[in-house]
Amino acid sequence: MHQNKHQNTYKQHVPVLLDEVLQYLDPKAGESYLDLTAGYAGHAKAVTERTGSLTTTVLVDRDNNAIKVLKETFDGTDIDLRQQDFLSASEQLLAEDRRFDMILADLGVSSPHLNEDSRGFSLQGSGPLDMRMDQEQVLTAEIILNTYSIDKLTDILKRYGEEPKARQIAAGIVHARPLTSTDQLAEIAKRAWPGHSRVHPATRTFQAIRIAVNDELGMLEKGLPIWLKLLAPGGRIAIISFHSLEDRLVKQALKEASGERYDAELRLLTKRPVVATPEEIVTNPRARSAKLRAAVKK
Ligand SMILES: C[S@@+](CC[C@H](N)C(=O)[O-])C[C@H]1O[C@@H](n2cnc3c(N)ncnc32)[C@H](O)[C@@H]1O
Repeated sequence: MHQNKHQNTYKQHVPVLLDEVLQYLDPKAGESYLDLTAGYAGHAKAVTERTGSLTTTVLVDRDNNAIKVLKETFDGTDIDLRQQDFLSASEQLLAEDRRFDMILADLGVSSPHLNEDSRGFSLQGSGPLDMRMDQEQVLTAEIILNTYSIDKLTDILKRYGEEPKARQIAAGIVHARPLTSTDQLAEIAKRAWPGHSRVHPATRTFQAIRIAVNDELGMLEKGLPIWLKLLAPGGRIAIISFHSLEDRLVKQALKEASGERYDAELRLLTKRPVVATPEEIVTNPRARSAKLRAAVKK
């Protein structure tokens, strides 16, 4: 592993809850590892340094830039790198009859996504209405915002953003068409929330559109049961989510599989979600909303 030319991008991303992930995954020499959202290799490097077992490690990410960094980080090794969404990667691994001692999903967007205006994720600055994690995907935020009906937009804002002013913002979007930049979208949300608010008034709107563009909840809901099947006996799974909609799905899936039944396939390692320490939040504000849940396969 060596320094790479994407070092700046790579440096922008600090892995969240790293100590806690290592505590629950508990990597041991020779163990296999599946990282479903390998991103900028923060967790993957720390885990594989402990297992020393790169041939039984699979790293997945659907983002071009992340894959470039992962390739350079693990250059010269036999690591199995897959540029895919984690749902199709998981289905494929199951079809290959693979099993893993550790599985990690660190959901959502990375800091480089948020820091680069050109990706359209950030509500600060001005960028194109893109928001795709997979740059090859056809559906963009621009298509959703300029073509979906007011009812459909209201539903997205309510469901994925829990936005109380969903209808008003959806009407603002339809009225302002054609929308081409993120600052236009932020402005529409701001108009619905005049006066001072604790969070940026467009936060919920951006989250909702981003989730819709990337089908984030759909993929998580379908992926979770497959991930449990991909765990070897004694295998540990850790999932980090960044908003309550994701955490609800994770909590439910782990709870169902670890009930009081004699044939329950999992044992929960975290009764409550683990959150970042105040010290971590100071150095990495992205950790503020992170929630980690973990379980072990019996
Ligand atoms: C929070 S970052 C992960 C950072 C990583 N753990 C690290 O330490 O560098 C989330 C990553 O997951 C990827 N991602 C999100 N949803 C995905 C999905 N459905 N399939 C594949 N990758 C996904 C994003 O592209 C992003 O790189």
